[in-house]
Amino acid sequence: MIDQSTIDRIYETAQIVEVVGDFVTLKRRGANYTGLCPFHNEKTPSFSVSPSKGIYKCFGCGKGGNAVNFIMEHEGLSYYEALKYLARKYNIPIIEKEATSDDLALKNERESLLVVTAFAGRFFHQTLLTTDEGRSIGLSYFRERGIRDDMIDKFQLGYAPDNRRAFTETALKGGYKPEFLLKAGLISEKEGHHYDRFTGRVIFPIHSLAGQVIAFGGRTLSTDKNIAKYINSPESEIYHKSKTLYGIFQAKKAISQYDKCYLVEGYTDVISLHQAGIENVVASSGTSLTVDQIRLIKRFTNNVTIVYDGDAAGIKAALRGIDMVLEEGLNVKVILLPEGEDPDSFCRSHPPAEVTKFFQDNETDFVLFKTHLLIKEAQTDPIKKATLISDIVQSIAVIPDPIIRSVYVKECAALLKTGEQLLYSQIIQFRRKYFEKKIPLQHVEAYGVTSESSNIHVPQAVANPFETNERELVRLLLNYGNHILFQGNHPNSSEQWIITVAQYIISEVLKDELTFQHPIYKIIFAEYARYYFNDSEMALEYFVRHPNPEVTTVVSDLISKKDVISKKLFARYTDNLIETEEMKLQDLVPSVVMDFKNKKALALLNQMIEQLKEAQEQNDEGKISMLSAHIQHLNQIKRTFAISLGNRTIYP
Ligand code: CTP
Ligand code: MN
Repeated sequence: MIDQSTIDRIYETAQIVEVVGDFVTLKRRGANYTGLCPFHNEKTPSFSVSPSKGIYKCFGCGKGGNAVNFIMEHEGLSYYEALKYLARKYNIPIIEKEATSDDLALKNERESLLVVTAFAGRFFHQTLLTTDEGRSIGLSYFRERGIRDDMIDKFQLGYAPDNRRAFTETALKGGYKPEFLLKAGLISEKEGHHYDRFTGRVIFPIHSLAGQVIAFGGRTLSTDKNIAKYINSPESEIYHKSKTLYGIFQAKKAISQYDKCYLVEGYTDVISLHQAGIENVVASSGTSLTVDQIRLIKRFTNNVTIVYDGDAAGIKAALRGIDMVLEEGLNVKVILLPEGEDPDSFCRSHPPAEVTKFFQDNETDFVLFKTHLLIKEAQTDPIKKATLISDIVQSIAVIPDPIIRSVYVKECAALLKTGEQLLYSQIIQFRRKYFEKKIPLQHVEAYGVTSESSNIHVPQAVANPFETNERELVRLLLNYGNHILFQGNHPNSSEQWIITVAQYIISEVLKDELTFQHPIYKIIFAEYARYYFNDSEMALEYFVRHPNPEVTTVVSDLISKKDVISKKLFARYTDNLIETEEMKLQDLVPSVVMDFKNKKALALLNQMIEQLKEAQEQNDEGKISMLSAHIQHLNQIKRTFAISLGNRTIYP
């Protein structure tokens, strides 16, 4: 592992002209050097090296990057190996941490833990099905609760005998090491003796996304209130409670299929819903949701429906946690069960068809649900209204999609009998603070580079209709970020105001939160914005030396093409091709932003129209009216764009 300070030193020392010069004969031309490209066959030089920027770029084949990229590409090395190569060339000592043996040990530990949890899972399941005690106590408990055998099999339910040595002895006899049994929390140690952790309980194994048994929940059969209802496995190298959702393995297929995930509280709720034929369900296991759990759901769907128990007491406490789900861009709905019911009891007292129907008929939008709920409270206490509004504003403000936000503003303003403008201004205030806190700083988070340099994770790019727009915006930021875009005098003083290109682009993009899809442009934009909030001037060098080689490649490309703007865009927004791009920024920058917004709005509109068709086919009244409102709003936006883009062509 090479630490960040060593990497910085390598970048500072390795001069691009020297590094490339080892392989290519370079000739000086003005501020730059040129030569024959080593990456493709050519007779006239189109390969250029810029010592001031620290990059190379071939205008023939398109290859480009910093010194490390060059060595990677030319010598066919990994990022890690290229860094080592340059360190050797410049005699920079690399302190190699002995991380490899630790890593290996950790990997072995994980594997060993999985072996013992798998064994324990089989032990509890077999005990339930084949032993007298298991059958007469455990199995009859499940049967009394109406849990069918196919569910016992699907969830691999089990039973732990009421005997503190039963599991321990079998495991030790089978050659499983106490060390791992202890670490997995299956046994405990007291005065040199080992004892079972789970005794006289029915067992719910917890599976990883891949279906491995990673932990257990054991429910007591006693009604004694002094006995803990559940005993759960402790955190371990394989089980992180906050990153796990009960039932995700059994649910993932159905979640993708129905494009929706129901969220309930407990193990038995999940199982009962499966039994009623609703298989896209997971449980948070009694605690409030974490970001990691939300992201786990997000891998399969953007739609979450939270099923609340009918005792209204807990609902209010749970509301706040949901903002985090909204923040992740998920659509959140709520189902409130009848008074006194939880999903498990509801499934037992109703036939499956009724359960399904109830779920379909009683799903309401979360923000509106919350608004209604809080209004009811505030009615009896008018002083509460201000708190109520700011509470709702917070929920709306965290939603990434600006259009969804604006629909909520309309609807909630009407419900609250307050002005839309008031809600908007509070939302803007909230979001300003929020962005200053939230924008991720990936550079700082990448602490170092290991030999398995895939530690820099770049998600696979998917088809992205906005790629050109995203690229243009990032290119303008990188090349002209600190240029003054607009300036003028304050009306009542001699003070000047200026707006830079970066200020304009960042505020426009953040204002409407036009999220980037392209993995690399997204990183660049987020980090640029974050730096901009901190020191307002962005050094290009930061990106040229970025620890992610894919970022440096893209950046080199974008900054070496400073003046080679997409012809189509240029022709569209400007009338004089002889002027340089820099002179055209006042037209170009707003146009690129506008074009991006326009495309985003159109894409959303099409998506909504599709959804509306679907809703009409299903006769889903609630959905139809919600979508119609969205569509109406989007059409308004579309007209606004048409006018302003139109203006531009008429009065260039
Ligand atoms: N839970 C826990 N420890 C407890 C109580 C609850 O870990 N002492 C978690 C379990 O994951 C449980 C969930 O919170 O499934 C919901 O709790 P509860 O509704 O009390 O349990 P149920 O699973 O619904 O159990 P039952 O229906 O048998 O009462
Ligand atoms: Mn329950």
